[in-house]
Amino acid sequence: MDGHTVTGTSGATTDAPGRVCVLGATGTIGRATVAALVRRGYDVVCFVRHRAGVGGSLAPADSARLFAGASVRVVDVADPVSLDRDGFAGERFDAVVSCMASRTGSPRDAWAIDHRAHLNVLDAARRAGVGHFVLLSAICVQKPLLAFQHAKLAFEAALVKSGLRYSIVRPTAFFKSLSGQIERVRNGRPFLIFGDGALTACKPISDDDLADYIADCLTDEGRWSRILPIGGPGEAITPRQQGEALFALLGRPPRFKSVPVAMLDVIAGGLAVLGRVVPPLGEKAQLARIGRYYATESMLVLDPATGRYDASATPSTGTQTLFDFYRAVLDGAATPERGDHAVF
Ligand SMILES: NC(=O)c1ccc[n+]([C@@H]2O[C@H](COP(=O)([O-])OP(=O)(O)OC[C@H]3O[C@@H](n4cnc5c(N)ncnc54)[C@H](OP(=O)(O)O)[C@@H]3O)[C@@H](O)[C@H]2O)c1
Repeated sequence: MDGHTVTGTSGATTDAPGRVCVLGATGTIGRATVAALVRRGYDVVCFVRHRAGVGGSLAPADSARLFAGASVRVVDVADPVSLDRDGFAGERFDAVVSCMASRTGSPRDAWAIDHRAHLNVLDAARRAGVGHFVLLSAICVQKPLLAFQHAKLAFEAALVKSGLRYSIVRPTAFFKSLSGQIERVRNGRPFLIFGDGALTACKPISDDDLADYIADCLTDEGRWSRILPIGGPGEAITPRQQGEALFALLGRPPRFKSVPVAMLDVIAGGLAVLGRVVPPLGEKAQLARIGRYYATESMLVLDPATGRYDASATPSTGTQTLFDFYRAVLDGAATPERGDHAVF
């Protein structure tokens, strides 16, 4: 497909790249992003692994069926030869959009995927003459305490240094990560909160709104060679407000059960000690640390001067709200996607 002229949301007009390679296409945001790119008329080629999806449930033919209007190639991102031969295949690609990320968040997986595999993709993209690399990252890397955040930051730094045009998108919380309690509340149980339920806040962003934002990075010059924190529409909301909204939608009085944050410290500490003897428990300790992080850190822009999270400094995009999504789930019109883990 030849390039075509598009007006970006910054008002700048640019010639859209025609052919886009998408990594992580089979994930939650990847699927929505493929659809957004196809809607905009791009020629989209998804690089997928041989067994894709949660628990490796998708064979290549299943992956291909997911993406109407896009094509699929089976590629091993850990192998530079496969990226060149099976992926870019000596053809012209204008941009890479990566929504790829470790499905477990464990340190080993994070360094292998969020960092090493991305370096492989970046190198292969440069060999293929790609001009623009759009990376889905996470807002939480602004306060890196966890292995997967360090792995993401290390790749962000390599991408910035590469000289390629980049757009690093750091979204706030996804709807699926804030929907884990819908069933328990519907079944009459209380909504679980840490502390008073107002320790943190976020501006939830829907899969489709984020996908539109990612796709428009290709044409909006205001998003070029920038790190882009981004949230969904409306005010920031706390876990307590999420619970209150759920109960209101169900027409029931709110009921909360508070869990002390210190409990997560005890679990993470205990698993870390056991993990020295039984390595899989060490990985579980990391998941408990991830849980603790999200129990205490907001998904909003962090003001480095004050060390405080700042809702008003967190940009918004899109139209879809978390509470509309809750309503759709309760009505049976939407289903929250469950990943390999439900921590982040
Ligand atoms: N959840 C949140 O609230 C939140 C908020 C902000 C940012 N984020 C960030 O958003 C990113 C993506 O999130 P998501 O929910 O869309 O992820 P996801 O559903 O877990 O999808 C991950 C994608 O990466 C691919 N991938 C993983 N390991 C791979 C491997 N070894 N080889 C090839 N592909 C591999 C997966 O492919 P397979 O289908 O083959 O496994 C899948 O397509 C993550 O970086 C996350 O940190 C999340």
